[in-house]
Amino acid sequence: MTAQQAQAIHVQGLKKSYKELQVLRGVDFEVARGSIFALLGSNGAGKTTVVKILSTLLKADAGTARVNGFDVATQAADVRESISLTGQFAAVDEILTGRENLVLVARLRHLSNPGKIADDLLKRFSLTDAGARKASTYSGGMRRRLDIAMSLIGNPPVIFLDEPTTGLDPQARIEVWQTVKELAHRGTTVLLTTQYLDEAEQLADRIAILHEGRIIVNGTLTELKQLLPPAKVEYVEKQPTLEDVFLTLVGDDGKNGTPAMTATSARTNREQR
Ligand SMILES: Nc1ncnc2c1ncn2[C@@H]1O[C@H](COP(=O)(O)OP(=O)(O)OP(=O)(O)O)[C@@H](O)[C@H]1O
Ligand SMILES: [Mg+2]
Repeated sequence: MTAQQAQAIHVQGLKKSYKELQVLRGVDFEVARGSIFALLGSNGAGKTTVVKILSTLLKADAGTARVNGFDVATQAADVRESISLTGQFAAVDEILTGRENLVLVARLRHLSNPGKIADDLLKRFSLTDAGARKASTYSGGMRRRLDIAMSLIGNPPVIFLDEPTTGLDPQARIEVWQTVKELAHRGTTVLLTTQYLDEAEQLADRIAILHEGRIIVNGTLTELKQLLPPAKVEYVEKQPTLEDVFLTLVGDDGKNGTPAMTATSARTNREQR
């Protein structure tokens, strides 16, 4: 296996403009197989644009990108067979039940036994009880989990999650994080975009920051933290607590306090002996 094949995603010199707006100005990065890679960036940085190019929904103006060993420009069909994409906005059909959504995708992928595939995924994502309910009645977290479950049908080796937890409450975010960790644990390569720094900290093996059209840093969390000077020790004025008042008045050994306090301390001293 060459070094390039060892990478699930290989991006080099990627450029993309929308008319005069240069969104990507030469983006380079690699994602190792079975790892979680987080692409961070502010609103409009170009994260979704990168994901769209890698999932063959959009053509780059320049540069190359390979996913699962296939070139996105010349081997688009092979790339599509290797990936799944959970977009920034949930792609769940609200009129269908959770189970029907899963069965539909399994049918579209021409898989045998769509019912069993659906039931297995409902179980894996703790949606068995909700499986017969219309997706329109699901909470945001349940909908996201269903969306991710739908994207796993057919076991793609690479999955793209565009802002998987935006708009979710803390509990639902944790559920999605667990799902993503489990995916990587099973050997799936995950590229996720996020604006949440804690999400990248929690999940990613490597973190890259997209800014003004380029990747300005790319490394592990530890490497990124080392980019800043070590933590400074700062003097912070703090209101004394009752405990501080007490210890100052009586002294730690109970010898320097007022008579009333000394009595207490003396008792403590005796008990200690
Ligand atoms: N089809 C389009 N036509 C024109 N401009 C576009 C188009 N799609 C995206 N853009 C612009 O390209 C820039 C990057 O958009 P993109 O959606 O990739 O950003 P993002 O990093 O995903 O942002 P967000 O965090 O808001 O999802 C933005 O300024 C956006 O307005
Ligand atoms: Mg986006």
